[in-house]
Amino acid sequence: MAFADYRNALVTGASGGMGRAIAERLCAKGLTVHALARNASKLAELQAACGAVPHAIDVTDTGAVTALLADLEIDVLVNNAGVSRPGSLLTSDAFDIDEQIDVNLRAALHLSRLVLPGMMQRDRGHIVNITSMAGHYEFGGHIAYHATKAAMHTVSRQLRVDAFGRRVRVTEISPGRVETDIFAHVEKIDPAEAKRKYFDGFEMPQTSDIADAVEYAIGAPQYVNIGLIELLPTLQVPGGLRTAKRVGDDVILTGNK
Ligand SMILES: NC(=O)c1ccc[n+]([C@@H]2O[C@H](COP(=O)([O-])OP(=O)(O)OC[C@H]3O[C@@H](n4cnc5c(N)ncnc54)[C@H](OP(=O)(O)O)[C@@H]3O)[C@@H](O)[C@H]2O)c1
Repeated sequence: MAFADYRNALVTGASGGMGRAIAERLCAKGLTVHALARNASKLAELQAACGAVPHAIDVTDTGAVTALLADLEIDVLVNNAGVSRPGSLLTSDAFDIDEQIDVNLRAALHLSRLVLPGMMQRDRGHIVNITSMAGHYEFGGHIAYHATKAAMHTVSRQLRVDAFGRRVRVTEISPGRVETDIFAHVEKIDPAEAKRKYFDGFEMPQTSDIADAVEYAIGAPQYVNIGLIELLPTLQVPGGLRTAKRVGDDVILTGNK
């Protein structure tokens, strides 16, 4: 019943990958979907495909996002836009850190700040945060990526506390690897090369699996809050333990890698 209670959704990062699949699914469920990303031509493709309303905006532009939301009553917010970086802190420049914090965390906080009061007043709303297994496990990805996703896990929990007493739901969806162009964007390589490297021959969740999870969470009865969905490839397992032995300058690693 919950879909019937909602009218307008805002999906960030809707120009591709999971965001596009989520936007298309919410359109199919009868919502008016406001699709936000920077790439105007990809948003136009999405509009042609499902009728989503395009907004070619940088999600880190708080002024533009505030102006967009001034006249919109958003019932469903999907904080999906995200960026990641290769390497570690040892190889980062200042922009690597700032962009991940700005897109993955700061923008999501501002969007939540802007839509939550209306949801509380109308006594209906749903915020879906697309985080990552990087928020729950340390697997040696970029430290700022891990940090922002862990922060968004906390934001998801805290939003529940802030919304206490009203029918406003919060769902964190924490994926492992999902077949999108994210690795092409991370490594600045051709999508076909990224596909060969990260997806060909693997049994990978698709963007439709993430849209299924979003549909499940929103479609649950309004009195049910699905708080956290961890969605990993069956053949991907986080964990393991490594121990290093130092022999002079040599580092000998033992244990699971
Ligand atoms: N794919 C995976 O394996 C995986 C695993 C775990 C978590 N995730 C998370 O899932 C979410 C979606 O990832 P994906 O795989 O679909 O990635 P993707 O294919 O790289 O898409 C990222 C989306 O974010 C948008 N975006 C990036 N910077 C933006 C900005 N400054 N302003 C507005 N939009 C911006 C991009 O649109 P524009 O470039 O048009 O702005 C694009 O639509 C992200 O939060 C990611 O961290 C992905």
